[in-house]
Amino acid sequence: MQESVLSSRRAPPEDCAAAAAAAAEDDADEPKSRRSASFPGARISAAAAAAFFGLFFFLLLVLVFAARGAQPRPVFCGSPYDALTRSALLVRRLDGLASDFGSLGVPWCRSKQGKTVEWTTNDLLKGLEEFLPVYETRPIKNNMYGMGFDHSFGLWFMVRWLKPDLMIESGAFKGHSTWVLRQAVPEARIISLSPRHPEKYLKKGPAYVDKNCTYFAGKDFVDFGSVDWAKVMDKHGISDLSQVVVFFDDHQNELKRLKQALKAGFQNLIFEDNYDTGTGDHYSLRQICDQSYIRGGGHSCFIDSDEARIRSKRKKFWEKAVDIEELCGKGDAWWGVRGYVRDNFNHSNKAIPYEEHFENSRFLESVLDVYWELPPVAGPSLTHQTRYDPARAPNPIIEDGQYGLFQRLGLGRLETSVFNGYTQMLYVQISPSTS
Ligand SMILES: C[S@@+](CC[C@H](N)C(=O)[O-])C[C@H]1O[C@@H](n2cnc3c(N)ncnc32)[C@H](O)[C@@H]1O
Ligand SMILES: *[C@@H]1O[C@H](CO)[C@@H](O)[C@H](O)[C@H]1NC(C)=O
Ligand SMILES: *[C@@H]1O[C@H](CO)[C@@H](O)[C@H](O)[C@H]1NC(C)=O
Repeated sequence: MQESVLSSRRAPPEDCAAAAAAAAEDDADEPKSRRSASFPGARISAAAAAAFFGLFFFLLLVLVFAARGAQPRPVFCGSPYDALTRSALLVRRLDGLASDFGSLGVPWCRSKQGKTVEWTTNDLLKGLEEFLPVYETRPIKNNMYGMGFDHSFGLWFMVRWLKPDLMIESGAFKGHSTWVLRQAVPEARIISLSPRHPEKYLKKGPAYVDKNCTYFAGKDFVDFGSVDWAKVMDKHGISDLSQVVVFFDDHQNELKRLKQALKAGFQNLIFEDNYDTGTGDHYSLRQICDQSYIRGGGHSCFIDSDEARIRSKRKKFWEKAVDIEELCGKGDAWWGVRGYVRDNFNHSNKAIPYEEHFENSRFLESVLDVYWELPPVAGPSLTHQTRYDPARAPNPIIEDGQYGLFQRLGLGRLETSVFNGYTQMLYVQISPSTS
């Protein structure tokens, strides 16, 4: 029955990945128009939004009842506005409802000792309050194809908490994430690796180049996997690798990156795009952990299954959700993306048998000390985002119904489009396998 509430997302061509690939490939100037398309669904009228979210909550409740074996039945009548208020109330009253929903539908990686992060939801809330005014001073206002608000906050919060001596970033684009790292820990060293130097973007518009960052970029570019990290750490006077945080936003196979980081002795890693099964342009840790023995994990490709039915419904609501036909490839292969391990912005991909996918998860579990997915900042009824499926994400920091809190923190001031880029940003702590 667990599979019955799964839903997922796909990566539409306009998202960060595709654009970044374009940016990585061609160094030539591109016509502005290619990059200035607005996000679909960014502007919806209040009535449409109310109807939409009323329907969403209705669907959510139906799904939950279905998952619990009860008969789905209509709960609302009257105007969409009534439905919206009433459903928000219901969601709050049935405490834990959303969280049940999440744990039924979301696969989590298991860490070695079940260790978790130190920070709490309250810390995240306090962080949000502090971060908003910082975010509003960002040099790159429109970071289309780069990080939006949720992930900018997540990155800022985590590195500020971890207070590393050195931050390494792989995949800089125009430098927005470099700027976020700098705001979070002003005194730390930064090393940034990116094929194209962020200063190149300055010619065309806003970009950020940090004064105290070592760039392996442009003609000095070296891939993370080819750097002699022992030498570089030595040069920067770093002897304790637990004081280093590595941030990956380079759209490479995350298993490859994790193995490279492990080999170099790094322990704290943040992955920007932790794509869900069936979506994205590179193999992610979340995909790897999607296994039938994990609660909420594994998939059946039966066209008449509950999962198939629910997926096709959810696809109507959320742009990135994928239905069973998209999820399953040849021979009912669902792992990774239709049985493929994607790498390097999907420029490379390789079909793997289920056994290999399974082995990958065993390996990952053997080195994993902490696995923590950043929750979305706020629920979709507040942010009006229409892209990622909340059923496939942890509960938001500010839940649907906490409208007052959302406004009080000033989040209502932000443009809707900045909430569209959420892809389960991930923090992991790793150490070599002991067995
Ligand atoms: C999604 S963008 C990064 C967005 C950025 N972190 C931000 O602040 O929004 C991906 C970047 O990875 C770069 N890239 C491509 N291949 C790479 C590699 N092997 N190592 C590091 N970066 C790479 C691309 O050129 C692009 O700038
Ligand atoms: C750069 O960072 C190092 C290490 O924190 C520091 O010693 C140095 O003063 C900084 N330089 C500038 C120009 O900020
Ligand atoms: C990824 O690559 C495969 C094989 O080249 C291709 O069939 C598929 O359409 C690509 N997907 C995306 C989203 O680019």
